[in-house]
Amino acid sequence: MTDISHDRLLIIDFGSQVTQLIARRLRELNVYCEIHPFNNVDFAFLENFNPKAVILSGGPSSVTEVDSPRAPKELFEMGIPLLGICYGQQVMMHQLGGKVETGHGTAEFGRAFVTPNTNSLNILEGWFESGDEQVWMSHGDHVSEIAGGFKVYGTSPNAPFAITADTKRNFYAVQFHPEVHHTPNGSKLYENFIKLAGFTGDWTMNAYREQAIASIKETVGDQQVICGLSGGVDSSVAAVLLHEAIGDQLTCVFVDHGLLRMGEAEEVVSMFRDHYNMKLIHADERDLFLSQLDGQSDPETKRKIIGKLFIDVFDKYAKPIGAKFLAQGTLYPDVIESVSFSGGPSVTIKSHHNVGGLPEKMDMALVEPLRELFKDEVRALGQELGLPAKFVGRHPFPGPGLAIRCPGEITREKLEILRKADAIYIDQIRKHNLYDEIWQAFVAILPVRTVGVMGDGRTYDFACALRAVTSVDGMTADYYPFSHEFLGETATRIINEVEGINRVTYDITSKPPGTIEWE
Ligand code: XMP
Repeated sequence: MTDISHDRLLIIDFGSQVTQLIARRLRELNVYCEIHPFNNVDFAFLENFNPKAVILSGGPSSVTEVDSPRAPKELFEMGIPLLGICYGQQVMMHQLGGKVETGHGTAEFGRAFVTPNTNSLNILEGWFESGDEQVWMSHGDHVSEIAGGFKVYGTSPNAPFAITADTKRNFYAVQFHPEVHHTPNGSKLYENFIKLAGFTGDWTMNAYREQAIASIKETVGDQQVICGLSGGVDSSVAAVLLHEAIGDQLTCVFVDHGLLRMGEAEEVVSMFRDHYNMKLIHADERDLFLSQLDGQSDPETKRKIIGKLFIDVFDKYAKPIGAKFLAQGTLYPDVIESVSFSGGPSVTIKSHHNVGGLPEKMDMALVEPLRELFKDEVRALGQELGLPAKFVGRHPFPGPGLAIRCPGEITREKLEILRKADAIYIDQIRKHNLYDEIWQAFVAILPVRTVGVMGDGRTYDFACALRAVTSVDGMTADYYPFSHEFLGETATRIINEVEGINRVTYDITSKPPGTIEWE
């Protein structure tokens, strides 16, 4: 669905892994943009979309190959500002009469420094104030001859044409990726670009919400939708958004697989059924999941059993409703690692977690209203939708729940102990006002009993590990540097208050090499 009430920017996607980050940077600047794969963008599309500016993304191809992607030639005659990034730069040069070559030792991957030349350029306002600018490069090919009308404004050791522009036509081309974190001043470049293109910054989270609601209505029509609601931020925001869009056509299924944290089921049910008045099925499937997990200790086997049961349970509740759509709170970072974005040209890196797989088995179409958002944007949307801070700020909780925090065999006894210890740990973190500083914190119960002494008696109980990490996106993480006092006080509380644990350890592994969860 195309929004027509805002200034619009088009991103032509040539398949870079970081194209979504361009969109994200633009949304941060309150600019409405859409990403479309290059093979969908022809002249008719451009006319219909009527962009105020266009960004050509990076991509894995080489313009020196005959069948590699191109932009429609009419793009260069529309009289609108263009910004080419990496492959997008090379496409611009190639199509406008410059030259791109492969190899010759001029590939650059990773951090590089760009040196300005004497000409000043509008999109570089705020750049080079303290010398060379750090940028992030990722290119094998390089531009060896710039197109007519272009001038050079910055060079790096292996990219003599790191920044070029034809200011008459408002065409800008950079070899590096301004959208990534490792180009620290990259946002400024986008800001300058959209300013010169005349964007007024009229795109807000409220506008996103309205747009998403209209788009859900259009997709769903008068069909029924079923949504897996875990109570985590993503599915909660997705459910509230869907509810706002289609009301009672939405049925949420909250599966209690017996692997939830303390008080979680009650909290979710009271929030969504009582407060939001949603149609909510509280599926008590504890016996089903726990009986099938009985005796299983291999992490992958456990994950597979849970994944399959989730599908069975969904099927069981979806069928009588006649739901034609399955709504999921999939976020962009889940998508990029699993499948190519919007059928676009990026390369699949790995299959991750529980994205994919569901639709074929379930015979329902997917509705994923958060598919283009990053975690912090979802939180902002949740706030916009009026979700309580307690829900919006919640740490992520994985689909397989406590199963992957209970290495080895899962027993009801261990789960009960784990729940109590986890509740105390989180209580401690909240009391010390640390909850929002931490990406995720939880207790894992270890498959080992250790000897202790309490009072005058010997104990032989489980050991547990506390985990707390900081992270931006869950892809990499650092352990959280608690004070010794905090750790000591928490360990004492857990050992005193939880029967079954007599030893507490703190996990100081970062990711990589560890993962956040234990399994
Ligand atoms: P790892 O353990 O891979 O986790 O470092 C990264 C982030 O993903 C969460 N996680 C999952 N989320 N289903 C989910 O919905 C899963 O199967 C799953 N496994 C891990 C994990 O909690 C962390 O936030």
